[in-house]
Amino acid sequence: MEETNLLNKELDESVQGTATMVESIQDGSKKLYLESYGCQMNFSDSEIVASILCKSGYSTTRNALDADVILMNTCSIRENAEQRVRNKLRQYQKQKKQNPSLVIGILGCMAERLKKQLLEEEKLVDLVAGPDSYRDLPNLIDEVEGGQKAVNVLLSREETYADIAPVRLGKNGVTAFISIMRGCDNMCSFCVVPFTRGRERSRDPESIVQEAQELFDQGYREVTLLGQNVNSYRWNITKKNELIDPSKPTVSFAQLLEKVALVSPLLRVRYSTSHPKDMTDDVLHTMAEYPNICKYVHLPVQSGNSNVLARMNRGYTREWYLERIAAIRRIMPEASISTDIITGFCDETEDEHQDTVSLMEACNFDYAYMFSYSEREKTLAERKFEDNVPAEVKQRRLNEVQALQHEMAFRNNAKTLGNLYEVLVEGISKRSDDEVYGRNSQNLTVIFPKNNFKPGDYAMVRITEYTSATVKGVVEN
Ligand code: SAH
Ligand code: SF4
Ligand code: F3S
Repeated sequence: MEETNLLNKELDESVQGTATMVESIQDGSKKLYLESYGCQMNFSDSEIVASILCKSGYSTTRNALDADVILMNTCSIRENAEQRVRNKLRQYQKQKKQNPSLVIGILGCMAERLKKQLLEEEKLVDLVAGPDSYRDLPNLIDEVEGGQKAVNVLLSREETYADIAPVRLGKNGVTAFISIMRGCDNMCSFCVVPFTRGRERSRDPESIVQEAQELFDQGYREVTLLGQNVNSYRWNITKKNELIDPSKPTVSFAQLLEKVALVSPLLRVRYSTSHPKDMTDDVLHTMAEYPNICKYVHLPVQSGNSNVLARMNRGYTREWYLERIAAIRRIMPEASISTDIITGFCDETEDEHQDTVSLMEACNFDYAYMFSYSEREKTLAERKFEDNVPAEVKQRRLNEVQALQHEMAFRNNAKTLGNLYEVLVEGISKRSDDEVYGRNSQNLTVIFPKNNFKPGDYAMVRITEYTSATVKGVVEN
């Protein structure tokens, strides 16, 4: 509701496209307006950008008209995500006509994908900085102010920004993201991320645990560990299982999860995203063992048909995926599960689409993020297959899976009626000042009377009402 906490999708309309910023972190002389699009990773990166620039004397503003520097942190995952950013940039170009010293820059995945194009050909920006070049931003801005155009789109094999304490933007003071890795080494044939984010690399576990501890000490009560494929997190060990430094221990994702869970039983731990091919039972057992690791798994399936999955280069079959869902249900019967689905991928037949529908029914997902296929330049799919499912067929299939998901969510929420959940309060409900909202371990948004609750408190709530998106309840002591 108020916020989605899943990685790798454009966030809800309510969050998407909204600028994330804080008012006057420090009385810097120059004003920065930072706007973020795309996945949680991008929102998390914006907090690193804010940290770097605040150290260089900037303060953030909520008003673009006030800004000396406008930076847009962008997403390339689907064509329409990029179009939206171009429209916004055109608007800022009008502002620059009135105020020629205004610096307009583009960050994130569009910057990396299009490189100089937005600067030289489309003339929409003065500055282009890819996801691994944010330490260079103060210099890049200086170059622009000195009358030059500035570009840094070098990808790195090492950069994890481990030493940079993010400035928490748009914060509720209760929930925060922690990036645990960057990049992606999978080559899903539809996906642009490996091109925009570069090679996969894991961040030093000590810096991750320290960040979690600091957040907890500041009053935060939930952290979400972020990566494109968190199951392949590894520290001090190569992909071929070779030890890097024999004097130090290795750390797997399950072990990292445990380390963060041990920070405090009052600190909830979530993570996103898992890849079905790498989702191992050790992670599920660790989740089951610690009550503060949330019982919620986001496991993007993309398609329910094994031939489509092979064309997508996902590395698993329908049967494998169903077995992983069975493992989750076996090890954590109370867990909720969500997924991502793409409709109308290259050559998808009606029968193949129906396999997605039947898989959704078999898995009984609590939530799903659903998209129609958008061809991306340079991807394997663009080179190997034809984007041959007509737009209206893609859309019709999308409508079909959306309707089914809506129905399943309604049915699943109905089953919560009468249940008692521990809910972490995140804020005042948008609809009423007398109500607060928060989520249960299963990531379901729960609304209940405010009483004396404040953000960061835990409440035991019994469910009394439901819709397909949220449930309402009353507090029980
Ligand atoms: N790393 C995550 C997903 C990253 S992108 C994972 O592997 O699960 C988030 C979601 O966007 C994907 O799961 C997919 O459903 C969707 N997506 C990615 N590329 C897409 C494309 N070209 N067209 C439509 N949807 C896409
Ligand atoms: Fe894209 Fe696949 Fe990597 Fe996810 S795992 S970011 S879908 S390439
Ligand atoms: Fe995220 Fe979009 Fe980039 S989903 S990794 S911001 S392409």
